[in-house]
Amino acid sequence: PRLDARLSAIDLVQRVPIFRDLDIQRQQAIAALLKPQLELPDAVIVKRGDRGDAMYFIASGAVRVLLEREEVELGSGDFFGELALLTGQPRVADVLAMGYCQLLALKARDFQRLLLQDAGLKARIEDVAKERLRRD
Ligand code: CMP
Repeated sequence: PRLDARLSAIDLVQRVPIFRDLDIQRQQAIAALLKPQLELPDAVIVKRGDRGDAMYFIASGAVRVLLEREEVELGSGDFFGELALLTGQPRVADVLAMGYCQLLALKARDFQRLLLQDAGLKARIEDVAKERLRRD
């Protein structure tokens, strides 16, 4: 897909699978909470050990998650940075942009609000987080 920083938040939200099936009103409510953030190649988006203040959805591009013993690649539709928000623990990995990356940032406070509003979304994010914690 063409990279375009001017794409609206609603266009970007509709690219993320966990949001795709929601009705347009929910998508608009979510889009209002998400802030488009364009990352340059090799940018450090999340630093291991930092306090978490946001999580990120990947609308396009890919990132590298540098864990202690392994490296994981995440791409369009994936999300990261949720663990620190769910556990209150510091970031467990560095996350770097592999190329130009169009992200959607969700601040911790809005994350809590969104999860309270939407039990299905909460369950899907928690399932992925549980699986990651199990593997790390
Ligand atoms: P957080 O700890 O906030 O910041 C680093 C992020 O890396 C973490 O949240 C997860 O989103 C992500 N992460 C951790 N472990 C894995 C894994 N096994 N696979 C993919 N992503 C991971």
